[in-house]
Amino acid sequence: MSTLLHIDSSPLYGRSVSRQLTGAFVDQWKSLHLDGTVIDRDLNATAIAPITAEWVGAAYTPEEARTPQQKGLLAVSDVLLTELDRADEYVIGVPMHNFGVPSVLKLWIDQIARVGRTFTYGSGIPKGLLTGKKTTFIIATGGIYDAQTRMSSFNFVEPYLRSVFGFLGVTDATFLTAGGTAALNQGLDRDAFLAPHLQVVQSHAQTV
Ligand SMILES: Cc1cc2nc3c(=O)[nH]c(=O)nc-3n(C[C@H](O)[C@H](O)[C@H](O)COP(=O)(O)O)c2cc1C
Repeated sequence: MSTLLHIDSSPLYGRSVSRQLTGAFVDQWKSLHLDGTVIDRDLNATAIAPITAEWVGAAYTPEEARTPQQKGLLAVSDVLLTELDRADEYVIGVPMHNFGVPSVLKLWIDQIARVGRTFTYGSGIPKGLLTGKKTTFIIATGGIYDAQTRMSSFNFVEPYLRSVFGFLGVTDATFLTAGGTAALNQGLDRDAFLAPHLQVVQSHAQTV
């Protein structure tokens, strides 16, 4: 029985393109994994505090030596890490905000990038511990940042996610991008815009 971790990070809910596309991925995945389990993690409905010096101190204290207070500081991180461990694959919806990832997604990444849990420097070189987790990133951007376009160097979403998840051991990553959603605010028909992206997402979901 496989488990899918479904993460969303758009604050726009019903109007969100990335949420609609991750939803389509999940529906397709469920139809192919009838006994599968989906864990939903909505980052816009999850309270995650920025990391503090005390949090870093707790993370770097060996587990058996942590005080009850330090354990409390890591409680949210522990829950989020358990979800990552339990799932066999991940689908992550990412709206571009100010050329990067939304702040709620960055807060989540800061909680799950944890020494000894998702990465280690044990042998002197960094080693990611989130191995064997097939991951699909579904990105929505107002503008268009395809390679060779004038704006491509402004896209810090895909390169950042590739780097940080690669560092954590996620090497089997697929990036599907719906670029140019700004046209929806200028009258472009939503169904017409979404149709080709839904098709790409649904056919990709059949391969994972
Ligand atoms: C706070 C905010 C910042 C944004 N910054 C950018 C940006 O830097 N570049 C861009 O192309 N679009 C930007 N957009 C537009 C979003 O990327 C676009 O609306 C996309 O569809 C968001 O994904 P969603 O529909 O899943 O929320 C921004 C939107 C918001 C709300």
